[in-house]
Amino acid sequence: MSASEHTDTMRHVISITDLTNAEIEEIFALADDAESLRKEKPARDHIMATLFYEPSTRTRLSFESAMHRLGGGVISCADMRASSAAKGESLADTAKVVSSYADVLVVRHPWDGAVRAMAEHADVSVINAGDGRHEHPTQTLCDLYTLRKEKGELKGLTVVVCGDLKNGRTIHSLVYALARFGANVVTLAAAGMELPQYVVERMESAYGYSLSPLVANDLGAVVSETDALYLTPKQPHQLALFTQMDSAIQLRLSTLASNLRYDAFYMTRKQKERIKEGANGGNYPTIGDEFLKEKRFKDTVVMHPLPRVDELAPELDRDKRGIYFKQAAYGVPVRMALLKFLSDRNQAKAGAPVTHVSLYQSPEPSGPHCVNANCVTVAETGSARRRYEILAGGPGGALILSCVYCDYRFKVQLVGDLKTKRYCAYDISLRATVGEWLEKNQLAVFNSIKEAEELGYEPYKISGLRIVMDNLEIQAAVESMSRDILAECQDTDGLLLLGVRTQGSVLARRIAAQMAKQKKRKYEVGEIDIYGSDEEIRRISLADPDAGPLNLRDREIVLVDDVIYTGRTIKDALSIIFRSGRPKRVRLAALIDRGHREVPVKPNFVGKHIPSSERERVRVKLRATEQGENDEAVIYSIINPSESASAPANTPLQSS
Ligand code: CP
Repeated sequence: MSASEHTDTMRHVISITDLTNAEIEEIFALADDAESLRKEKPARDHIMATLFYEPSTRTRLSFESAMHRLGGGVISCADMRASSAAKGESLADTAKVVSSYADVLVVRHPWDGAVRAMAEHADVSVINAGDGRHEHPTQTLCDLYTLRKEKGELKGLTVVVCGDLKNGRTIHSLVYALARFGANVVTLAAAGMELPQYVVERMESAYGYSLSPLVANDLGAVVSETDALYLTPKQPHQLALFTQMDSAIQLRLSTLASNLRYDAFYMTRKQKERIKEGANGGNYPTIGDEFLKEKRFKDTVVMHPLPRVDELAPELDRDKRGIYFKQAAYGVPVRMALLKFLSDRNQAKAGAPVTHVSLYQSPEPSGPHCVNANCVTVAETGSARRRYEILAGGPGGALILSCVYCDYRFKVQLVGDLKTKRYCAYDISLRATVGEWLEKNQLAVFNSIKEAEELGYEPYKISGLRIVMDNLEIQAAVESMSRDILAECQDTDGLLLLGVRTQGSVLARRIAAQMAKQKKRKYEVGEIDIYGSDEEIRRISLADPDAGPLNLRDREIVLVDDVIYTGRTIKDALSIIFRSGRPKRVRLAALIDRGHREVPVKPNFVGKHIPSSERERVRVKLRATEQGENDEAVIYSIINPSESASAPANTPLQSS
């Protein structure tokens, strides 16, 4: 690891976070005076290249119109399939070459992070006109500008973002910006299209927003069967952490919802081009007649980045609350302002505001893979160096890497020391040691044991190994938890067991099998993938492989994991559950409770309490995943993992 400062003087706009609030205000001031820019023609000697690898009407034409109105020229490929990209030219080479023909590149690409990769190879400013499902920062500038024009201050507004929040890149840029300007965000997602976990986590960690469920029928005029979630800086309670939606909480939520003034609905279309064939989002939110007649929405404006499909009632086009065409028209003055702003900053050689971000790049040539299959680092490795922001050292002790290009996060499973060429599974007991390896650029992260061993690493030696639960004891614990669940759950018909991937899923299946034996009926089982690539919750019981997506609404859920220690994993799993549907109740089952809770979650069903220190490792080995003949839970320590870390590093540094 090394602290990296973005000291480049060339300004790029890849994410909305590349602009400070003051800079956004400056751009808006320039947009307010676009007529003067039109007369002045400050871009007379400038050329803008538009490289659109995906279709566009508004972004491309408004950028081109903006440059013409500033007095500059535009070069373009009418269709990137007719460019040398079709012959296999890389993003890196395209960026490098076109940089010598133009002063600014405006790029749209279907891969997440592709525009950042191009910016790293370009010699001129690059603007992101939409990259995969990641971000669309200039659309957000248009959205904020429109909202400000209509409503005045952004601070304190409540904006309901609706539809495909998972794949809609405009949404991701917008919610970050709304948080930065102090607005409240209500999410109203189509089923299975909820805001991704990495976006929610960033809202929490970077902007201090917390997530609360709203009462189910509050936004019934827009959609039924979908629950609204409220992201706000004002609510001190993380209601998602409550495992039981008891009546007191429901009452508080009703009061909160009935007092909410909704200032804007921001509707989006289903991003069909980014959805796997066969995946169905179910009931999709629409703004129809009912919305127009609702008294409480009389001052609520309706926005849409467009193109729309059938999310908006045609009557809305003739209603003053429908402001989406105005929003599209602001694309020209806002983009004129952005081009002028960037040109001024580059002439003044004023780089981006310095941000201190710790980046990790593996000292081994392979390095960890991003979990997002649509990330540029996966699709075109030659144009993007795999680098990650380190979100380590959090209370849970997990080592989380966040891809610099697409922002996806994943939990590190296997680590090694470059100097001693030893590897082991990562857990909290290694927190301090791995911190030292990071500082000395000795930390290797592996995708698999096979990869570690092929690179010449050997496993660490361990000491003090003892079995804390054997095969029979694990079986007895599963049986007793099954009995307790059946005895305590009020609605066993609607019961759903959700296991945290991977060991939790195996245990959830075993508990369900035991319950089935006792009750002579099948129980539904699902899996939660907290740092997965795509689906966060999926069905895993084989009873009905053709059944649709898992329905969580009004159900009793038992969340199952192998070991609970700090509770952070459970907190993340609960956040996913509450974003995916409103259950009646969630209870927790854990084979082993190690204690040391850092967040207020308490397991309801426990196989065994094993208080253990941070230095000790507790591992549950299940034959389904570990190729052993028996199940067992073991406790052990690693011998001298930090021995080499205190020795001077003698290896080349590759962190950036
Ligand atoms: N809003 C938007 O990005 O529209 P286009 O796809 O037409 O550019």
